Amino acid sequence: MRSANAGTVLEIGTAIGYSAIAMARCGAAVTTVERDADLLRIARENVTKYGFDGRVTVIGGDAGEVLKRLDGEFDFIFLDAAKAQYREFFPHCMRLLKRGGVLLSDNVLYKGMVATDELAVRRKITIIKRLRRYLDELCAAEELVTSIIPIGDGCALSYKIGL
Ligand SMILES: C[S@@+](CC[C@H](N)C(=O)[O-])C[C@H]1O[C@@H](n2cnc3c(N)ncnc32)[C@H](O)[C@@H]1O
Repeated sequence: MRSANAGTVLEIGTAIGYSAIAMARCGAAVTTVERDADLLRIARENVTKYGFDGRVTVIGGDAGEVLKRLDGEFDFIFLDAAKAQYREFFPHCMRLLKRGGVLLSDNVLYKGMVATDELAVRRKITIIKRLRRYLDELCAAEELVTSIIPIGDGCALSYKIGL
């Protein structure tokens, strides 16, 4: 967060607020979106409990709808929600990401299944196809320079080319 000089962060997928609070601890102003009502309540409680009410804004709702209404520009976007929806979120991420900013898409290799058919299981084929299409779009985007990093569940780091 500090090395990316990220003052403003958009997170898609809050869960209990762990990463939102961690990013706020590093000095960022974080806007984060969660659709699950129980997790939303816990995330808000955690934000208050750890003293980050002024720095973390937790928005309730499906990101597919919330992002349409969201304005502003973010230095860093952390995409960590339903993998099947990454392509739906992508145009909004492009609109909301500052030039010179970074988009981090998590879980893009999905236990290696996206990287190779040898690891793919049949019941996951739809999500695998969707993630492959997402990665194709991400890598083809002219405004982005993207690296796919095979650590954990795989993440894609995309830098939006500055002016
Ligand atoms: C992997 S967890 C997020 C973890 C969190 N970023 C962290 O690292 O602490 C994914 C979360 O995204 C939420 N989510 C999935 N799809 C969503 C959507 N379309 N809109 C909003 N939240 C979504 C899920 O309810 C879940 O809590």
